[in-house]
Amino acid sequence: MKPMPHPKDERTLVIIKPDAIERSLVGDIVSRFERIGLKIVGAKMVIASPEHIEAHYTLDPEWRVKTGEKSIKAYTDKGQKHPVSDDPIKVTDVVLMKLRKYMTSGPVLVMALEGAHAVAIVRKLIGSTEPLSSDVGTIRGDFVLDSYQMADIDNRSVRNLVHASGSVSEAEKEIAHWFKPEEVIDYRHIQEKILYDVNLDGILE
Ligand code: CMP
Repeated sequence: MKPMPHPKDERTLVIIKPDAIERSLVGDIVSRFERIGLKIVGAKMVIASPEHIEAHYTLDPEWRVKTGEKSIKAYTDKGQKHPVSDDPIKVTDVVLMKLRKYMTSGPVLVMALEGAHAVAIVRKLIGSTEPLSSDVGTIRGDFVLDSYQMADIDNRSVRNLVHASGSVSEAEKEIAHWFKPEEVIDYRHIQEKILYDVNLDGILE
């Protein structure tokens, strides 16, 4: 039988989006991932093509439905009707068109991060998709003030600074989409000794 994967070996994909780069927030954002104990195992700056962006978002076959439903719910929660459609797929078609423009408007910094429960921890640190409702203390809650409503009025994507994988299987597909295998580096980080070592021996002489 294959041994259970250890949670500390989990990896996730993060994209620091063009708006974060233009606002010089790279250091602030990356420092939040570093300070919690995640290890950077891959990083590169790229100008993505619209096709690469569309392929990235549609790697998960459920993404179209989930994204449309989330957007419709943001309106129904306020007792309003979605301005585009009540069909999630039609809503997402429009979102995707805007995303192709947003995500290719400048360079992005793509990162693979590794550490215990990397997928869930990073999603917690970045906060929910819409900055208006992201919790204070999260990256989106602290550094940006956008909303679905503003994005719809101005016919553009929600500017929320970062993307992060939603599940372990999605992370595997997304890392393979952005990185060649040799661009993701296996190495030991000194703080892993304190984060994960079972006995914590070797501290006292
Ligand atoms: P991200 O986590 O990268 O996943 C999809 C992105 O699409 C999301 O962050 C937002 O930038 C954008 N987005 C999602 N829903 C909408 C929407 N309803 N209107 C505009 N942009 C959206």
